[in-house]
Amino acid sequence: MDSTVEKTVANQPLNGLEEWEDFLKTRYPEPADAKAQAAPEKKKEEFRNYETDARPTVREFYRLNHRYQTYDFVQEKKRDFLALNRRKMSVWEAAEYLNTLIDDSDPDTDMTQLEHLLQTAEQIRKDGQPRWFILAGLIHDLGKILCLYGEPQWAVVGDTFPLGCAFSDKVVFPKFFADNPDSNIPKYQSRLGVYEEGCGLDKVDLSWGHDEYIYNVVKDRMPDEALYMLRYHSFYAAHRENDYTYLMNDKDKAMFQWVRAFNPYDLYTKSHQKPDVEKLRPFYDDLINEYLPGQLRW
Ligand SMILES: [Fe+2]
Ligand SMILES: [Fe+2]
Repeated sequence: MDSTVEKTVANQPLNGLEEWEDFLKTRYPEPADAKAQAAPEKKKEEFRNYETDARPTVREFYRLNHRYQTYDFVQEKKRDFLALNRRKMSVWEAAEYLNTLIDDSDPDTDMTQLEHLLQTAEQIRKDGQPRWFILAGLIHDLGKILCLYGEPQWAVVGDTFPLGCAFSDKVVFPKFFADNPDSNIPKYQSRLGVYEEGCGLDKVDLSWGHDEYIYNVVKDRMPDEALYMLRYHSFYAAHRENDYTYLMNDKDKAMFQWVRAFNPYDLYTKSHQKPDVEKLRPFYDDLINEYLPGQLRW
């Protein structure tokens, strides 16, 4: 293992980014599983409490995430990373770079990052979705290369949430927001905070992570529907819990149907068959060339 990779996994609560995604999957089970869980023979008190049941590693990850993602932190990360002056890479080079992030425990059952991206894209393709939708699936997690720059897990993944306005209890582990310094700043804790009613999510600073980063790398080059999927796929409080609509404008509300359409592909295509990377490569080279040719700035 090269030393950069080792550095990124040392002193991190999660045994790999996938632990966060596995947690999401237990919290938002696939519809078939959800039906089983809601079976009438199950008493109400048996409904799972995902916070209580969460692994200590996941809990610690969210504690750090909710403690350190502040309004100022997000401004600073945007200034730094959205200059896009770190690397020049094609989409495929970025995918191969991300794939050097070896971060998991069980090599038999776990997918590499590239396999997750290809699996997501392949399921979208099999369902006959538009080409830009397939491409969104292929690239949606490329922003996780932030880990390879040495960024901590809590600043790369995790459910995203708005800063600069009141924290919602629809965000998982809301109690951890008590230790966020923004909790003591009244102008950040009113319902609207620094925003205006219906101002549109483009004006809202979400917690920093891999969604906002990949969105900025490809914005202006893909249809809005795809850009929404990329930018908001971790915004579970909005796309799953339907909160924060008071910050959305009409376009956001309409476009969120695409974020919701994307989410099952992200969460539920992981356990199936491993994709044959070499066989799939020509199709994806064409697709990348159609929308995102050449070297991009990262
Ligand atoms: Fe993601
Ligand atoms: Fe993903």
